[in-house]
Amino acid sequence: MAENDSGQVSYRLKRNTWCGELAASSDGAEVLLNGWVARRRDHGGLIFIDLRDTTGLVQVVFDPRVSEECHAVAEEVRPEYVLAVAGSVRLRPEGTQNPDMPTGEVEVVASDIEVLNASRTPPFEIRDDTNVDEKVRLSYRFLDLRRDEMQAAMKLRHRVVKATHDYFDQQRFNEIETPQLCKSTPEGARDYLVPSRVQPGRFYALPQSPQLFKQVLMVAGFDRYYQIARCFRDEDLRADRQPEFTQVDLEMSFVDEGDVMDLVDGLLDSIFNAALGHGLELPIPRMAYDEAIETYGTDRPDLRYGLRMSTLDEVFSGTGFKVFAEALLGGGTVRGMRIEGGGGMSRSELDTWNKRAIELGAGGLVWLIVEQDSTLRSPVAKFLLDEEKAGLTGAMKLEPGDAAFLLAGDKASCDDILHHLRTAVATSMDLCPADEFKLTWIVDFPLLEYDAAEKRYKSLHHPFTSPTPESMGLLETDPLDARARAYDIVMNGLEIGGGSIRIHSPAVQERMFRVLGIPPEDYQTKFGFLLEALEYGAPPHGGLALGLDRLVMLLAHRDSIRDVIAFPKTQSASDLFTGAPDEVSPGQLKDLGLKHI
Ligand code: AMO
Repeated sequence: MAENDSGQVSYRLKRNTWCGELAASSDGAEVLLNGWVARRRDHGGLIFIDLRDTTGLVQVVFDPRVSEECHAVAEEVRPEYVLAVAGSVRLRPEGTQNPDMPTGEVEVVASDIEVLNASRTPPFEIRDDTNVDEKVRLSYRFLDLRRDEMQAAMKLRHRVVKATHDYFDQQRFNEIETPQLCKSTPEGARDYLVPSRVQPGRFYALPQSPQLFKQVLMVAGFDRYYQIARCFRDEDLRADRQPEFTQVDLEMSFVDEGDVMDLVDGLLDSIFNAALGHGLELPIPRMAYDEAIETYGTDRPDLRYGLRMSTLDEVFSGTGFKVFAEALLGGGTVRGMRIEGGGGMSRSELDTWNKRAIELGAGGLVWLIVEQDSTLRSPVAKFLLDEEKAGLTGAMKLEPGDAAFLLAGDKASCDDILHHLRTAVATSMDLCPADEFKLTWIVDFPLLEYDAAEKRYKSLHHPFTSPTPESMGLLETDPLDARARAYDIVMNGLEIGGGSIRIHSPAVQERMFRVLGIPPEDYQTKFGFLLEALEYGAPPHGGLALGLDRLVMLLAHRDSIRDVIAFPKTQSASDLFTGAPDEVSPGQLKDLGLKHI
């Protein structure tokens, strides 16, 4: 290292090649490499260092016969030291090639070395198969991100974002940034609030999504808007939720549902090509919400496997089996799930599924096995009539060698419990190949649901979603029968995006607020700016937002979005690396007119 004239620290051996790009064709090349020590081995005189940069690893050999001085320096270096190395590439001697390493056919014989920086001993080894606690990984994120799989995930994310920008540009969209300091208009989750210093007692909210601004951009005549937008929601966190996350947000004018879905089909096809090197089968199929609930018990079905559900109310309408009869009498339902090839489950496995169902809130789970001779084996078989057995076999399309789970109770909880069991059974039967991607649109959503706790209707999507033309007459009389012009996109059982055609008439928007039980003074205060904009020639418009983190997580075969976000937050919304959130000084609070509690 030397101090150059301008006082900057400089070094002699500036890189001219990337570690991971050396191959047999590089034989004989003189190279300069800069990187980190991934591993150092001392083999009786020869020292081997695997040098890592962002492209990969290459083996560097320090031979005292080539350079005593370099060998002496190499003796002192430790993992994660930063080195600059000069040397010549040669083919590895026969028998010492490493087929597990992309550069495993070659090595670099070092003739010069500079130690650019030392490193403390890392708290964990920088390797993919590390099983260190995630808290430690997050506290030392700069080391964690050096690992191959984290580097690969972040690069995959970059390719997805790049393909997104390219696609929208080709489709005549403009990327337009919308504010991060907004008015608080909660969309379902709690807002993150930012106190105003110049207007004490007043707050901005961080955007939960750019929803209202993108609609206003349509009123402003931009026609096609998109944004890779950061969104903030103060909600309970899970593996697929972060308080701060990224949406691929878009809005289009003069379109209907089909136009938006077609455009997003094309976007996802481009993203797949860029990320995985192959496109999608288009169009992505569309499934009605009611069908999804009936067949899979959820509006985000994983279609990589069957395990379909059926309603068995008719089969058991006159049953003498008390559990089912009581459920039906009480206005409930009997639902069944076919488990193709599940007939081999042992008694103890079946007992475990029963226990699981009870933990999830079921009174109990009825299991059935279809024997090879088509007879049904089940603890409750003796309570079922032959025509009931035949009826359920037919309704559920059961085949010899199958199992079936039956649940009785209220419909929503049966669906919920069976959906959980379906996912768990698929995992335990290994039915989810990691590199298979099954996408579906869910369409024909209900517009509203009833919130019993708050005693009012709530939007399934958001209050700006247009009802279908046929539903306009139902809003006040039969609100739960009204349907929305909304669509969600689901991939491998995860909602990766959602959107709708919006209300563009101010009168209909006001009507919707009233149906939602929001008094005029409230909706005028909260959304008056939108209502006013709609009065100045708002075009018909609609759009959607994809959850970028979730999409990249699935493409990267990861189980948590934290693994595709450079600096994610923990379950308790902390950034373990910087220590946010943190206390602030009394002076800062005073400036903001806030008191310490
Ligand atoms: P929605 O609330 O459905 O729609 O969000 C769109 C998509 O964003 C992702 N997402 C999240 N990802 C990570 N962490 C979170 N906390 C989180 N919350 C949501 C999901 C979801 O499908 N403005 C509307 C879109 C529109 O109507 O155009 C909206 O935000 O993948």
